[in-house]
Amino acid sequence: MIAEALKPMSCCPHVIMVIGKGGVGKTTMSIFIAREMSKRGRTLLLSLDPARHLSKYLERGAPGMDVGQVSVEKEIEEIVLRHSDLLKALMPSLPVFNLDDLVDVVRYSPGAEEEVFLRKLLWAYRSKYEYVVVDTPPTGVTLRTLALSRLYVAWLNRLIEIRERIVALRYTIARTMGRQAEMKDKALERLYELREDYGWLTSRLSSPDSTSYVLVAMPEPLPIYEMEETAKFLKERMGVRPKLLVLNRVLPEDVAKRLGVLEAQKKYEEQLKGYGVSYALVEHLGKPTEGLEDVEQLASKIRVVVK
Ligand SMILES: Nc1ncnc2c1ncn2[C@@H]1O[C@H](COP(=O)(O)OP(=O)(O)OP(=O)(O)O)[C@@H](O)[C@H]1O
Ligand SMILES: [Mg+2]
Repeated sequence: MIAEALKPMSCCPHVIMVIGKGGVGKTTMSIFIAREMSKRGRTLLLSLDPARHLSKYLERGAPGMDVGQVSVEKEIEEIVLRHSDLLKALMPSLPVFNLDDLVDVVRYSPGAEEEVFLRKLLWAYRSKYEYVVVDTPPTGVTLRTLALSRLYVAWLNRLIEIRERIVALRYTIARTMGRQAEMKDKALERLYELREDYGWLTSRLSSPDSTSYVLVAMPEPLPIYEMEETAKFLKERMGVRPKLLVLNRVLPEDVAKRLGVLEAQKKYEEQLKGYGVSYALVEHLGKPTEGLEDVEQLASKIRVVVK
């Protein structure tokens, strides 16, 4: 069973990140895994996929679990509103503080989307759910997002250093001039908070107890290549191994033989086994999975090997 392959999961909530190249079946597998996990505990299926494919699959909802879709635009607006005080404190020289302009600046800044995803993950790790299954955006964005958490901590350390110096200097100048000296600094406090958040998130993301990485591919060269690259990234940058590898849309032997792809398919299966982690082979349904009923049918098409 897929839930067994994802063990151990000691702490709550446990976040299951479903990662893979476009079109390999991330959304399909996310729904399938969320269905399985919801039999064990309170589950949220969270889509970070900007294309909103999840809602297409689950037009009539999904019984037994909650479903969430992140809207990057809406979240950016909220972040800007929430941080407007801090921005005013950091940029007092801004003559007119136009919130709409600022929302635009943030929205089109590099890294904005990744930042929204990180905040959402932070929220997920602090939520009341036992399991949060995350249907991720394209691999590039996902890996950048994961790397960003650690990078933020490094940036924040540097920013804090600079801000601490400014505050100390301001204090000294005020004292020298015989004025009341204020040591409290709103911006600095917020920077400490952010460092705390991202430090904590970074440790959650690289702890197998808190996070399971499920890598999905199809028996084709590019999806397999992307799976390999992702596993390498997880190992080198985060110090973790994937918990489960999924080879989706595997053709039945006779069909694969007829199409002349049996050899290749077997080669990819062997490659998957070579990782030494749990893996699942999911047969092609014979038609595209269109709704929850089709995804449920995959239960009879899946073979899981637990390591
Ligand atoms: N086991 C399967 N058998 C048959 N069709 C499948 C199977 N798994 C996925 N599909 C079909 O493959 C297509 C891609 O699947 P899905 O939308 O889950 O992939 P995705 O990785 O989420 O794609 P995207 O990157 O566009 O979000 C869909 O048409 C889906 O119905
Ligand atoms: Mg999808």
